[in-house]
Amino acid sequence: RAGVVTAPRKVLLPSPRSFCAGVERAIDIVEALLTRYGPPVYVRNQIVHNAFMVRDLEARGAIFVSELDEVPADARIVFSAHGVAPAVEREAERRGLDAIDATCPLVTKVHNEARRAANAEDTVVLIGHEGHEEVVGTMGVAPERTVLVERAADVATLVVRDPDRLTYLSQTTLAVAEVEEIIAALRRRFPKIKGPGSDDVCYATTNRQAAVAAVLEESDLVLVIGSVNSSNSNRLMEMARDAGTESHLIDYASEIEPEWLRDKGTIAVTAGASAPPVLVDEVVTAIASYGPIEVEERSVAEEHLEFLLPVRLR
Ligand code: F3S
Repeated sequence: RAGVVTAPRKVLLPSPRSFCAGVERAIDIVEALLTRYGPPVYVRNQIVHNAFMVRDLEARGAIFVSELDEVPADARIVFSAHGVAPAVEREAERRGLDAIDATCPLVTKVHNEARRAANAEDTVVLIGHEGHEEVVGTMGVAPERTVLVERAADVATLVVRDPDRLTYLSQTTLAVAEVEEIIAALRRRFPKIKGPGSDDVCYATTNRQAAVAAVLEESDLVLVIGSVNSSNSNRLMEMARDAGTESHLIDYASEIEPEWLRDKGTIAVTAGASAPPVLVDEVVTAIASYGPIEVEERSVAEEHLEFLLPVRLR
């Protein structure tokens, strides 16, 4: 057939990709509780934003709820990797629930920064996406002292109590370039604004974006494995699309449409921080079913970070 790629397709695997330390820890916590106490283990919200992991843990006895009143009295409840507002912690305590916190330590870092800024009577300007669970949790730290900014264009109309007493913070899973643009706009309008000690966009988000950036030019297609509600996965797909490269976000290999692969000589396959490595293997196998492939790892950074489990689960 005309236009059929005959040479082996190149499949590039940008690295780092897939699980980050915070996701591994959150999943390990649920698994450890299932092993130690047996099912059910209640989890508030999806433990991580990944359909495969949620189904997998459900099959092993996890029960995902969105509100604490869905949990029987005295039960065990895990807070997801995205963090919770202090009001939710208080509510769990009031109801006598045994709460286990699987919040990523890098999200807790942002909560601590928000608390410190609010205690110093600053207004927190949080850069993030409205409604995302992490943003709901972080805004809950000092709700009366936090305002949300989603885009650089919002900065011009932002209403703050005192322009000289501001601290910006951000969601951990945003596009690095977009956050920089928003911070620049904030600094222009509010020259005295302070920032966090170190970037809030986490190492895993930053590295996965850098890894995709490094292969964009040579890729005809970028497949991102991740769920629709996974912020960092969506950002990877957008990065590719913004650069004019076709890109699709998929949960499973079975979602690949043959049409996407037509005439694509080089395909990059990455995965968001909440998507397990096994799904990458399945996608590579699926691509191979359409013709010969050559697989190349493309690494821009090594990750060795590991977070300890809560003391009682070690
Ligand atoms: Fe934590 Fe970043 Fe992963 S905030 S959960 S290390 S994506």
